[in-house]
Amino acid sequence: MRRILVTGGAGFIGSNFVRMVLSEHADCLVVNVDDLTYAGNLENLEGFMDNANHKFVKGDICDAALMEKVIGDNEIDSIVNFAAESHVDRSLVDPGIFIETNVSGTLTLLKIALEKDLDKFVQISTDEVYGSLGADGMFTEQTPISPNSPYSASKAAADHLVKAFGHSWGLKYNITRCSNNYGEYQFPEKMIPLMINNALNDKELPIYGDGLYVRDWLYVYDHCTAVWKVLTEAPAGETYNIGGNNEKTNLDVVGSILDRLGKSKDLIRHVTDRPGHDRRYAIDSSRIMTELGWAPSVTFEVGLDKTIDWYLANKKWLDNIVSGQYQAYYDQMYGNR
Ligand code: NAD
Ligand code: DAU
Repeated sequence: MRRILVTGGAGFIGSNFVRMVLSEHADCLVVNVDDLTYAGNLENLEGFMDNANHKFVKGDICDAALMEKVIGDNEIDSIVNFAAESHVDRSLVDPGIFIETNVSGTLTLLKIALEKDLDKFVQISTDEVYGSLGADGMFTEQTPISPNSPYSASKAAADHLVKAFGHSWGLKYNITRCSNNYGEYQFPEKMIPLMINNALNDKELPIYGDGLYVRDWLYVYDHCTAVWKVLTEAPAGETYNIGGNNEKTNLDVVGSILDRLGKSKDLIRHVTDRPGHDRRYAIDSSRIMTELGWAPSVTFEVGLDKTIDWYLANKKWLDNIVSGQYQAYYDQMYGNR
């Protein structure tokens, strides 16, 4: 039986990964450590909290004693590190916590992984570490690291640390760098769920600047299958890009959301741009496709339909977050710990 520590497993991608592993890989224990920050939500794990192959631990990845105990007590063999502060806009307001969690937290896990000689440490990174593209070209695994926001700088620092642990002391690691994920359970500060929520409530849709910024959209389930392949099949010491091959401008994405919801484009409002806004990301995933046989399962059109259907069917989940009700629940659940 594999014994995996998943960090950040109550967040958007982490919870989708935990769900996928528990649903599709029976011979796996998942120990899920999440500090339940504003972005962590136990409702994301509904149906899996009582699963015998899943143990949830509320905790901070910067807490070395706790992490050492969780990893030792559960005889963990591999770590998949999703835990992070993940929102670029927040990093432009308060960068400190990004350094703490994304850099110091990763360092804490790396030291333990090395000391315990774990089989694999998978660092979930981002295409944003490569910086921004002009009209042409794509990021490959050879593209030099050139982060532009405090968020991407913190993720790049973590990548460098992971590589340094591999280079200096032989840590068995992989780094994955994926493009913009979308799908079920994404916190509505990120563009797609924010726009869906606003459109559903006939609120204005705030488009930064001219709206011609380009992202490559990846359906979250497809990201999870890619991470599983890297965890279980990739040789140690390698880095893999993961993308959906779905380059779209923000205006195109928002237009599709409005069309599907039957709402008017008059809801779009151009607002002040994000400082230092990266113009375009495009990711070349050919390495993971050819070497590990991974491929995305859906087109953007199908993935967006599934996502919108999910948000329509789960308005209560969205309303609980927007109303802050879930935070009150956690304060009650964990406030005294
Ligand atoms: P998210 O913000 O939805 O979830 C992050 C989770 O980490 C939350 O559950 C939060 O409670 C937890 N967390 C934060 N600080 C913690 C700490 N100190 N200790 C323990 N848990 C902590 O983020 P996401 O969108 O699911 O992103 C997951 C990972 O994927 C991140 O590392 C992010 O950098 C990376 N990534 C995300 C995207 C994307 O499009 N969302 C794209 C590329 C890479
Ligand atoms: O590329 C991978 C990255 O994708 C991840 O590493 C990050 O964790 C994740 O948050 C995401 O970063 P972005 O900054 O690209 O995502 P966000 O959803 O914040 O914004 C997507 C695009 O939409 C970006 O060009 C900014 C724009 N935007 C965003 C918001 C929230 C708007 O125009 N209006 C908005 O209100």
